[in-house]
Amino acid sequence: MADGTQVKPVLDAATIRALFDPETGDLDRRIYADEELYQLELERIYARGWNFMAHESQIPNPGDYFINYIGEDQVIVVRDDEGKVNVLLNTCRHRGNALCRAEQGNARSFVCSYHGWNYALDGRLIGVPGQKTYFHDKLDRSQWGLAHAAQVDSCHGFIFATLDAEAPPLEEFLGDVGRTGLAMVVANGEVEVLDGIQKNVISCNWKIAVDNLFDWYHVMYSHASANSSGFVNLGAIKFSEQFVMLGEYGHAISGPGVSAENQARLDQLDDEQRRALQATMPAGPRIRPKAANDIMGPVGVRSQGHPNIFPNLWITLGGMQLCLRLPRGPEATELWWFTVVPKNAPPEVRHMAVRQAVHLFGPAGLLEQDDGENWSQSTRASHGIASRKLGHTLQMGLGQDEANIGAGGQQYIETQVNEHGQRWLYRSWVEWLTARNWAELKANHSAAPEGTI
Ligand code: FES
Ligand SMILES: [Fe+2]
Repeated sequence: MADGTQVKPVLDAATIRALFDPETGDLDRRIYADEELYQLELERIYARGWNFMAHESQIPNPGDYFINYIGEDQVIVVRDDEGKVNVLLNTCRHRGNALCRAEQGNARSFVCSYHGWNYALDGRLIGVPGQKTYFHDKLDRSQWGLAHAAQVDSCHGFIFATLDAEAPPLEEFLGDVGRTGLAMVVANGEVEVLDGIQKNVISCNWKIAVDNLFDWYHVMYSHASANSSGFVNLGAIKFSEQFVMLGEYGHAISGPGVSAENQARLDQLDDEQRRALQATMPAGPRIRPKAANDIMGPVGVRSQGHPNIFPNLWITLGGMQLCLRLPRGPEATELWWFTVVPKNAPPEVRHMAVRQAVHLFGPAGLLEQDDGENWSQSTRASHGIASRKLGHTLQMGLGQDEANIGAGGQQYIETQVNEHGQRWLYRSWVEWLTARNWAELKANHSAAPEGTI
């Protein structure tokens, strides 16, 4: 580790690699506070990767839009008159003003509030006040349309975008683990995302919020008060039956899993029998219909854990809530909570989903209040002259488990509570930050591990 009293580390590849050692789990805590690293993350992770933009159900009609971010770049995700989804930088080409101020809605075009330039839903500049008089018809409107994301695509109804034209297709970026994670949301049937995204800022680094979703070690301790209140039943969680899947480019799934024997029994049941079984254990794991095996795979379907689509999309509660962890500087993260319900769900199901969403996570959520405090304090202790010299340790389960390749070529680890997901996140983070472009990242990223891990 470099001397913590240095003003700034030099961010060459060797310096970045020294920040995390996957062979020991030693992590340099300055990764949670350093501005230079943060800027590199915006460039080499957020601008380069595929970012979750919206679910198709949020923008079903022409003119429907949803405002989101790629790193700190604000974008308008909008369906145009042809039904195509465009991801446009929300910044006017004249003097940079934000065009769209509402968080979501429907528009016929986007008119800038500064001087009135008007943009079509596909980003074309279609109106300029004073075009004839003040610009003498010299302004070439075709050159001043809104900037588009380089690529937009969707998987299982989830729309993603990247600013990098060299990024591999979404399907390849997601790989088996990313696709399995998204499939978890639709494994019980088609879904829609409810209006009303819960948003709040926590003073923590985005990575500690992300790595916490793999952390089943903290649950009994941090959330003991939520358990005693009776709102959650932590006793139902199987901490000794954990199931981990590690995928290319940093995607991972970690948490409880169904044993091979129990899955084999489940596989014998038809959907009617599965529903009957679920009725006997309403607080148990979500039992999926037979068709879930097709989209999650014969191994993936055993997971009841938490997927993270690298870098920052968490899928929780068996796919009933999503959380984006948006970076807002090294020491602030904006959390966006999306509530998912079955398509055409009746009002009482929607009501229950919203109640659960508000009480579990988000600013009023019992669980997030516990978590947020811990993340803030861990982040805060990352820049003191003395404390930043101390490392973190992520050694739980290291060298103790086997990464297997199961049916359909899906990789998995069966174990107890562990820190494999966290180590995988930081190993991948190093790979993203040290690669100067997609060609280097493709050539040098880790494949899903096999054997002792
Ligand atoms: S900044 Fe948008 S029209 Fe001038
Ligand atoms: Fe938690």
